[in-house]
Amino acid sequence: MNEKNFITIALPKGKLFGLSAELLKKIGWTAEGLHEKSRKLIITNEAAQLKFIITKTADVPTYVEYGAADIGIIGKDVIVESGKDVYELLDLGFGKCHLMMAVPKDKKRPRLEDYAHTRVATKFPRIAESFFAAQGMQMEYIKLNGSIELAPIIGMSESIVDIVETGTTLRENNLEEIVTIMNATARLIANRVSYKLKFDRINALVNNLEKILAQENFLC
Ligand code: PRP
Repeated sequence: MNEKNFITIALPKGKLFGLSAELLKKIGWTAEGLHEKSRKLIITNEAAQLKFIITKTADVPTYVEYGAADIGIIGKDVIVESGKDVYELLDLGFGKCHLMMAVPKDKKRPRLEDYAHTRVATKFPRIAESFFAAQGMQMEYIKLNGSIELAPIIGMSESIVDIVETGTTLRENNLEEIVTIMNATARLIANRVSYKLKFDRINALVNNLEKILAQENFLC
């Protein structure tokens, strides 16, 4: 079988995996043994000429930019933070969340500017920096990889810039959102060269996904 006809798809571990795999399955893009906990690094469907790789969420744009994956599904927030040059094909509508700044309720300051020159803990230092720079605010950034909400609670930072989905994590940790930075949903992305070389298959995928999303209002 000619390997050149295969499409490699990068899917993120974590919250977006289930819906991404489910959506692709609806158009027959699936493979036996494709599940988030799989320890197999590449899961292949020979008949359909598909290869799936399951990567850390933040790494999906990297695999796609380098062409290790032809396409991928990932949140808009992660695309922007990565700064990777990928082609965004489709807004899939699910995985709705927003990136915001939050602070401990009991330490809230009157105005946003009152936080200038304080510490912000975040998984999204690029987005945070460009947001604060646009407000004319210089900040100190502490890059963390998870459980960001902990930082202001234990006094390591004054605030966080993080994702909110249901708001449960903020509530349970007595934090309050003070400003929204961006909204995000899951996107289908492609490597720019793959998109040209494998245009027919990738374009058919986009058309089929658009139909499914329109018909079913897929979990918006
Ligand atoms: C994300 C995010 C928040 C939480 C928000 O973390 O960083 O902590 O989800 O969701 P909520 O508004 O529904 O509570 P994730 O679960 O990805 O884990 P992490 O903290 O290890 O990054």
